[in-house]
Amino acid sequence: MKFNSKVAVVTGAGSGIGRAVAVELAARGARLALSDIEPLGLAHTADLVAGQGAPVHTATLDVSSRGAVAEYATAVLAHYGAVDIVVNNAGIAGDSGTFVNSELDGFQRILDVNLWGVINNTKAFLPSLIASGDGHLVNISSINGIVAQPGTAAYCTSKFAVRGFTESVRADMVASGLPVRVTVVHPGGVSTDIANSAFDRAGSDVTPEQRKRLETYNDKLLRMPSEKAAGIIVDGIATGRSRVLVGHDARLLDVVARIVPARIPVVTAWFERRMFGVPAVSDERSASASS
Ligand SMILES: NC(=O)c1ccc[n+]([C@@H]2O[C@H](COP(=O)([O-])OP(=O)(O)OC[C@H]3O[C@@H](n4cnc5c(N)ncnc54)[C@H](O)[C@@H]3O)[C@@H](O)[C@H]2O)c1
Repeated sequence: MKFNSKVAVVTGAGSGIGRAVAVELAARGARLALSDIEPLGLAHTADLVAGQGAPVHTATLDVSSRGAVAEYATAVLAHYGAVDIVVNNAGIAGDSGTFVNSELDGFQRILDVNLWGVINNTKAFLPSLIASGDGHLVNISSINGIVAQPGTAAYCTSKFAVRGFTESVRADMVASGLPVRVTVVHPGGVSTDIANSAFDRAGSDVTPEQRKRLETYNDKLLRMPSEKAAGIIVDGIATGRSRVLVGHDARLLDVVARIVPARIPVVTAWFERRMFGVPAVSDERSASASS
C-alpha cells in the first residue's frame, strides 16, 4: 500500500505509539483522522502532523462508547469522503495483582477500552474500508496477546481477544473476497506512558511495591522508542503483513510460545522473580488469606 493521500484513522493518537504512528503516516503522505480521550495530548499530535503538512481531522473520543464511535465514523466519512486505513491503537494497562485479588470493575474497564474499543471502531469503519477498495484494518494487540504473564489477567484477556477478533475479521474478508487487508500488531516493550497512566488512574491505592514495579517496567522493559515501533508498524501496513511483531522481546517470546507453549507459566514466573525480585503469587496468596 502507498500512503499518498490515503485517509488514515488512528485512535489513542494523543500519546505514545498512536502519536508516533500518526507522525509516521503523515511523513509518508497520509491524510489523518486522529482521536483520543485526552484532548491535550491529541492537540499536540495534531500540531505535529499539521507541521508536517498533513491534513488532520481531530475528535475527542472514548472508544469504549459504541454510540460515540458510530457518530465519529460518520463525521470522518463526511469530512474526507473515504477512509482507507484504520489503526485501532487506543489502550490502557491497569491490572494490579493476581486475578484472585483483582477488582472486576477495573477488569471490565480494560476490556471496554482494549477489546470493545477495537470492536466498536472496526464495526463503525469496516464498511468504509470495504468501499475504499484498498482498505487496511490494523489492530494493536501486544506480546500479551501471545504470552500471558502473572498479574495481568485483564490486559492479557483483552489482548488475546484482540488477536482472535482480528484473525476472525481477516478470515471474513478472505472468505468473502472483500478488499480489506487485516493486520494484528504485537508490540513488546515500547517506551510510552502506558504504565505511568495506569498508576495515575490507581491514585492513592498504589503501594510502594507497585511503585517499584512501575519503575522497573519503565527502566528495563518498556525500552523501544515509540518512533521506532511506529516505523515497524507502518512498514507492516505498507507491505500488507498479516502479523507484525515489534521488537526482539516480542519475536523471542513468540518463538518460545511456539516451541514450549505449556512451559510459558514457568518461564514467566521465573522472569517475574528475576526482574522484580518478588514472588508475586505468594504475596497475593497471603493477602487473600488474610482478607
Ligand atoms: N507501550 C508498550 O510497551 C505496549 C506494548 C504492547 C502493546 N501496547 C499497546 O499499544 C497501544 C498504545 O499504547 P501506548 O503504549 O502508546 O500507551 P499510551 O498510554 O502512551 O497511549 C495510549 C493512548 O490511548 C488513549 N486512550 C486511553 N483510553 C482511551 C479511550 N477509552 N478512548 C480513546 N483513547 C483512549 C490515551 O489517552 C493515550 O493517548 C495500546 O493498545 C497498548 O495496549 C503497548
